[in-house]
Amino acid sequence: NAERMAQDPVRFVGLKPLQATVTVKAEAGKKISDHLIGIFFEDINYAADGGLYAELIQNRDFEYAPADRGNDRNWNSTHSWALADAGSATLNIETFSPLHPNNPHYAVLEVRSAPGAGLVNSGFDGIAVKEGARYDFSLFGKVLEGKGGKVVVKLLDTNGAVIGQSSVTISSKDWKQQKSVVTATADVPVASLAIYPQVAGKYALDMISLFPQETFKGRKNGLRVDLAQTLADLHPRFIRFPGGCVAHGDGVDNIYDWKGSIGPLESRKPLRNLWGYHQTRGLGYFEYFQYCEDIGAEPLPVLAAGVPCQNSGTCAHHSTDELTCMGQQGGIPMEEMDKYIQDVLDLIEYANGDARRTKWGKMRAEAGHPKPFNLKFIGIGNEDMITDVFEERFTLIYNAVREKHPEITVIGTVGPFYEGTDYEEGWELATHLGVPMVDEHYYVEPGWLIHNQDYYDRYDRNKPKVYLGEYASHVSGRHNNIETALTEALYLTSVERNGDVVSMTSYAPLLAKEGHTQWNPDLIYFNNTEVKPTVSYYVQQMYGQHSGSEYLPSVVSLDNQPDAVRKRVGVSVVKDKARGDYIVKLVNLLPVKVASRIRLEGVSLVDPSATKTLLTGEPQSKDAKPVTSPFEIGGEEFSYEMPPYSFTVIRIGQGEKK
Ligand code: AHR
Repeated sequence: NAERMAQDPVRFVGLKPLQATVTVKAEAGKKISDHLIGIFFEDINYAADGGLYAELIQNRDFEYAPADRGNDRNWNSTHSWALADAGSATLNIETFSPLHPNNPHYAVLEVRSAPGAGLVNSGFDGIAVKEGARYDFSLFGKVLEGKGGKVVVKLLDTNGAVIGQSSVTISSKDWKQQKSVVTATADVPVASLAIYPQVAGKYALDMISLFPQETFKGRKNGLRVDLAQTLADLHPRFIRFPGGCVAHGDGVDNIYDWKGSIGPLESRKPLRNLWGYHQTRGLGYFEYFQYCEDIGAEPLPVLAAGVPCQNSGTCAHHSTDELTCMGQQGGIPMEEMDKYIQDVLDLIEYANGDARRTKWGKMRAEAGHPKPFNLKFIGIGNEDMITDVFEERFTLIYNAVREKHPEITVIGTVGPFYEGTDYEEGWELATHLGVPMVDEHYYVEPGWLIHNQDYYDRYDRNKPKVYLGEYASHVSGRHNNIETALTEALYLTSVERNGDVVSMTSYAPLLAKEGHTQWNPDLIYFNNTEVKPTVSYYVQQMYGQHSGSEYLPSVVSLDNQPDAVRKRVGVSVVKDKARGDYIVKLVNLLPVKVASRIRLEGVSLVDPSATKTLLTGEPQSKDAKPVTSPFEIGGEEFSYEMPPYSFTVIRIGQGEKK
């Protein structure tokens, strides 16, 4: 497993360019999953708030709490907020008469001398605005002392110059939402937002929001366009949500309760994020389902199996004995399991229930989506320890879902590794219960991926199918480069070959904001103005954009080369039946080129026009990008020279589009 490309000059000393013959047996084709490439979304590394969720104000709900971040006292309700003209104003945080019980903290701004004093938000590493772009400003406010009046809203650049302005009025004694639109007059990557009451008095403020009008597909409360488009460009067949560890949480009270993530924003339940920050859950289940629909991906919600993360360091509200409540040991108390199971069933109803006849279907319709979201999959558990506590709860949930919703494919869990006790016992339980699919996770060294290409060849076809829900090639330093990406590409040729048993895969984690990463490597890095897909992203994209529904076996002959050489050349040929295209994927992990002759046996091409997409670079390269160009194949037999360290997709179009 420790084999690395840096050793190639020694391992392959004297190796000359190779000749290969690839014989594709089209008549022996087998059906494979058409959901193979998906995405794993978890709010880790600021993926949601400050990331994909387009809100520009940080801590808009004043709910940041030291407990979010290991009792960091600077991480509190005033985080990201500051006073302007502090000598004439005071900021306090109160909980006396909140806007909503789920959102108990609010700001009380006392302005002694107006105008001039105000409240400033610094955004997530600043607020990036574009000249001419329009931003929806809103707040909930009420007057606690004085008459109230006009409140000026300003976008400021780093020198304090005004780059956009509007106003609202706060004069009500009860909470009332106020809205206005601010148009930016300059491109500023690090702006701030200030609100200045024009009349002295005491104001209660909450849910202060600045949202770009331009969101992905123009959705209100929507997603950042460039990030959402980058994900859509992967052509994912499904999206997993909300994790990962976030799904089962740090302690029972931190389990992601989906009901707290829907409804009016001010009523959503913010949640401590176990990665050390705060989740507003503005990007909640409704926004998630909507995004899946917008990009044609199946939703794959993952819910806790009645147990929190096995590494939990936090006890639940009901626990009296610290020793037995840490980790997953406590689980949800059995007397609360009926309610929890009902929550799981209610999520299915929220997604699919009739808009008039079901309670949760009605809620979905009220949120703006009367039609069902057509949920087909649901994951129960996330790489949990397979203990008695787990088994008891998982079985109850699984049986309830199977009984009430036989149409839903339930995905179980088999631990965090490709082997070991949890893997074995998870598989045993899933097989015993007849769970249709299980979620496997493994973050491994590149060498593991090279030497385990037969991993799924060995799987029993009569057992549950596999969702490879989290995986990535990891090297020391935890970055991705051509070496890690090509080993992923190589391994995925074996996954396509086993697409009859592996139904779904998702690289993890997906998103990471620069300066706020808790985990590396990730598929896409970003900051407030740029999106930086990694080499691994392009591998996923090449698979996602060129997936097929039928696998055509091939024989690769590399004239008597040793095992170490043969293992580094991977081929996968699939047919995209809907479009009639043949797709040839060729991976070369060797330092020499491989001149190949490819024979499509049993194929008669209607249209031999093709494109070639090539990703290549030195093993350490982190910025290689795929290049697509027309490619002449001439007929059912053609030549192609794989460059050293490369991944190529040749797509042969049939123009059959059905
Ligand atoms: O992908 C990052 C984390 O890795 C996930 O939250 C967890 O499931 C796994 O351990």
